[in-house]
Amino acid sequence: MTHPLNAEGVDPFAIASEAAKQIAEKSGITNHDIALTLGSGWAKAADLIGETVSEIPASQIVGFSKPAVVGHVGTIRSVRLPNGKHALVIGARTHFYENHGVRAVVHSVRTAAAAGAKVMVLTNGAGGIRKEWAGGAAVLISDHINLTAASPLEGATFIDLTDLYSKRLRDLAREVDSTLDEGVYCQFRGPHYETPAEVQMAKTMGGDIVGMSTALEAIAARQAGMEVLGMSLITNLAAGVQSTPLSHEEVLQAGKDAEARISELLAKIVVKL
Ligand code: HPA
Repeated sequence: MTHPLNAEGVDPFAIASEAAKQIAEKSGITNHDIALTLGSGWAKAADLIGETVSEIPASQIVGFSKPAVVGHVGTIRSVRLPNGKHALVIGARTHFYENHGVRAVVHSVRTAAAAGAKVMVLTNGAGGIRKEWAGGAAVLISDHINLTAASPLEGATFIDLTDLYSKRLRDLAREVDSTLDEGVYCQFRGPHYETPAEVQMAKTMGGDIVGMSTALEAIAARQAGMEVLGMSLITNLAAGVQSTPLSHEEVLQAGKDAEARISELLAKIVVKL
């Protein structure tokens, strides 16, 4: 199951530069100002934020693997925003639980940075620990707790993570919707959902949201010098907070139900970033 990015002697940053070059060639856009990773429920935003200049199957770009999960998209789009900026929209996320290693997980973020992006918008579908978020709330990520025991950084690379989820960008998002709540995102490895006891642990530690993606990506974005905006769609209350069992189908359905609303919200936020 070795991913090409993990082969010996491979420089992940060189592969990301190569991927960015391929995207520039295929899309005709040499510089992207902002990048978005669209998780469960957020895919429709790609249509709403602007005019699609180019849509490329991620499998045609070096370092990207095919999506492992039904409901994940698998394309990379170049979108011209109404404000004239260019957005790179990544519908292809590699999760840590796929076992391709951390380099594969953060390749999209490093590619976005190599493509010129100064702002990285990371979205996901996640479980909510706060009951008031039942029914598909969109929540800003204010900070994270990384419970994967992994880092995308290699060697003695000491990176500050203070204000990782930019307060400036959260404030801009609140100019669009002043009611947006925020919370601390706990990344578990997955792919199993958490046990109720693990959810209680996350809550005790200060967590509000449980998920399987964004923390590792955010760390790589910070290393690459990008400003990060994180947003979660609460597709379900976390295990034990809701009394019914969790299912992937429930997560997908909640994503579908919320898609139009949260995509419109994201489209309004993106032009401000
Ligand atoms: N836990 C972890 N990841 C998730 C959840 C959850 O409850 N819902 C959607 N993604």
